[in-house]
Order: sequence, then C-alpha cells, then structure tokens
Amino acid sequence: MFNKIETAASFIKSKIEGSPEIGLILGSGLGVLADEIENPITIPYHEIPEFPVSTVEGHAGQLVIGQLSGKKVVAMQGRFHFYEGYSMEKVTFPVRVMKLLGVEQLIVTNAAGSVNESYQPGDLMLITDHINLMGANPLIGPNEERFGPRFPDMSEAYNKDLRTQAKKIAASLGLDIKEGVYIGNTGPTYETPAEVKMARILGGDAVGMSTVPEVIVARHSGMKVLGISCLTNMAAGILDQPLSHEEVIETTEKVKSSFLEFVKQIVKDI
Ligand code: HPA
Repeated sequence: MFNKIETAASFIKSKIEGSPEIGLILGSGLGVLADEIENPITIPYHEIPEFPVSTVEGHAGQLVIGQLSGKKVVAMQGRFHFYEGYSMEKVTFPVRVMKLLGVEQLIVTNAAGSVNESYQPGDLMLITDHINLMGANPLIGPNEERFGPRFPDMSEAYNKDLRTQAKKIAASLGLDIKEGVYIGNTGPTYETPAEVKMARILGGDAVGMSTVPEVIVARHSGMKVLGISCLTNMAAGILDQPLSHEEVIETTEKVKSSFLEFVKQIVKDI
C-alpha cells in the first residue's frame, strides 16, 4: 500500500513546484473553492497512477494545486465516498498522498443534515468531534508505521487551536458560526426519523456520509484537522417534508459566497 501511495505522490510532485502545506477536501456543492486557486495545476484523478478511479460517469474529480490566499494548497475537487462502493482504503488514499506531498494541515468540508433543532439550513458548523457510525474504520488491517501508530489517539480529532482561530475569523466576518458533533453514517440513504432521534440522543448535531474516514487517516499520520459542515437541510423527521439531493445542492449554492470567504480567510491566517 505504501508503495502505491508513494507512486501517486511522486507523480504529483513531478508536476508541481514546492510542496503544498494545506490540504482541502471539498464536499458536495463546495468544490467551487478550488476555482479560486491561483496558478492552478489540475490533475484529474484518473491520470494519477494508483489513485482510485471514479466509477460514476461525469463524476470524475481532480486535484487542484496552487496558491490560495498566499498559501500553497492542494484541493480535492470531489471525494470518494464509502457508499459509492470504494473500500475505506480507497476513500482515504488521497489523504495519505497529501501527507507525502507535505500537507500538515487539512481542512475537510462536507454537506450535512442538521440534527440540532436550533441550527438552520445554510448554517456553517465547525466540527468539534465526530462519532463513527460507519461500521468500519480505515485503519483496520496491518498498521503502516511510516504513517502512525497502531492505536492512534483521537482525543483531539479536530484541532482546538484551529477551531479557536476559525471562530475568531468567523466573528471578524460577521458570520454566525455554529459548533457541534458530526455523526458519520454510510448512506446512501438519508436517515430515518428514528435514526435522527438516535443521533441526537447520542450527542450528534449533524449527520453526513463522509469526513470520518478521512479525518481518522489524517490524524493517524499527525495532520492537524479543521472540519466544516455546511448544514444543507434539517435532518429527516424534523420538518414534515422529504429530503432530496436537490435541496442539499440548493443550500450549498446559497451559502457559497460566505463559505468561500470564510475558508479563504482561514487558509490565510492558519
Ligand atoms: N443526512 C446525511 N447526509 C447528508 C444530509 C443528511 O440529512 N444532508 C446532506 N448530507
């Protein structure tokens, strides 16, 4: 596995100058942030040796490497989801490639449903912690010591200093940022109302279908992580209406400009 990650990383290194210090994983509808990267080098995933290949037509993602707010960054425009049928190893492969490229800070974003009834669609939420309900862990299997220990500490999965900085930035931008616990489910079904009630009882504020595997792998290798959820809808059963992917995309469209401004300022200051 390590060799495959090295092969992918060397290929990318041969295309770029210097090393990116910040990694960005852009969630559903939030990929536009990568369009703001200056002097971009874009590498479609399918061109990178050993990289997972997208099975869905027209759903191909790419890495965008360049400058954002004066910092060298590498962004994933499109991620791999467990529900698409990728193994946990494949879902998290790009995070390890980022590590070998030199990334020490990872900003992970996603679209999520709000379990917390006092939050609203369109709110941005700093992830304070997560609960893994995916029934899998990407680190199961032989441990790769070159990345990290067998039993990684997860007591500060989402870096406290980065969260403090992000809150200050939000205040300076007049953004009413929320905070809370993200529960990772596999999807692809949205939750049932009973599952949402369970999520609330368990201490969750948001539910989604990503992020948890990537963050586990990032923490294993010692990266500092900042997680931001765009709450695109109230989770199932809170409102008397069905959920749809259209609603999720519509909400990300609405918050796009404040999301962009927020993340750009974070990249500048951290
Ligand atoms: N549940 C799970 N994932 C999601 C949701 C949701 O309500 N909204 C956006 N992604």
